[in-house]
Amino acid sequence: MVFSGSANMPLAKRTCSYLGIEIGAAEIGRFMDGEISVKINTNIRGHDVFIFQPTFAPAENMMELLIMLDAARRASARRTTAVIPYFGYARQDRKDQPRVAITAKLVANMISAAGADRLLTMDMHSPQIQGFFDIPFDHLFAAPVLLEHVKARGWRDLCILAPDIGSAKLGRAFAKRLGADLAVADKRRPRPDVAELMHIIGDVEGRTLLILDDMISTGTTLCEAAVAARRLGARAVYACATHAVFAPGTIERLDQAPIEEVIVTDTIPHNDLTEKFTVLSMATILGEAIRRIHEERSLSSLFV
Ligand code: R5P
Repeated sequence: MVFSGSANMPLAKRTCSYLGIEIGAAEIGRFMDGEISVKINTNIRGHDVFIFQPTFAPAENMMELLIMLDAARRASARRTTAVIPYFGYARQDRKDQPRVAITAKLVANMISAAGADRLLTMDMHSPQIQGFFDIPFDHLFAAPVLLEHVKARGWRDLCILAPDIGSAKLGRAFAKRLGADLAVADKRRPRPDVAELMHIIGDVEGRTLLILDDMISTGTTLCEAAVAARRLGARAVYACATHAVFAPGTIERLDQAPIEEVIVTDTIPHNDLTEKFTVLSMATILGEAIRRIHEERSLSSLFV
């Protein structure tokens, strides 16, 4: 049985449609003071329950997930899986400055304490966050769907640009699968949400460039990389990222950047995208993973 919070009902419905089931009946409401209330409106005693909720900001989304997990546990679900297509708060995953929090560990503790028996997520900011959990954890990749789209475009002289060292591994995997070259940008973050691009390592002159990242937050990383690449003679620049976090102003910023197309997925919903954006659905991958978890089958073939 799949229930969804209110963060991304369209993707939850598409996933259920792939599975050929109705989304579970639940009421997600607000008390007059704004507190969240959840009521699961059907018997789930002894059932295999999936709670679908990406945890992008505001923190209400996270809170809804926790309350739904608690409701499922108290209703005697046999097993509850938190399905979190976008795992928020993952970027603060280590103490890289004095007196900062490790929010990725904090939310891992909260999700486990709320009653999740297992977790299903996609393209985490850093996969080692899996180790913050002591419950089974399935980590999916958007790559099969993204690669199919890029291959169909048939771009010639393709070079993948990893916009920072952190995304170089993902970039290398894509370059290998596409028979493309890899370039890497040297990005610095003088402070949060500000990106400065120092150099591009690799030859991008005359190439079609695909900038690849796990997420787009303010879009600064992509814009800086696109401007630098064009300055260095790239013929055309495209961008691709799994999670369209899109802080306020990002859509306009990307719309004005020297980028031909921005390819993202529907892990985070948006209603105000322009023609520059292509949104690929993760419903099939998520649905297939849910089916296989329920049937106790291997998920490995979803990773290739
Ligand atoms: C950073 O390590 C991530 O992979 C992304 O590059 C980053 O979150 C993008 O942020 P923004 O769009 O604000 O530059």
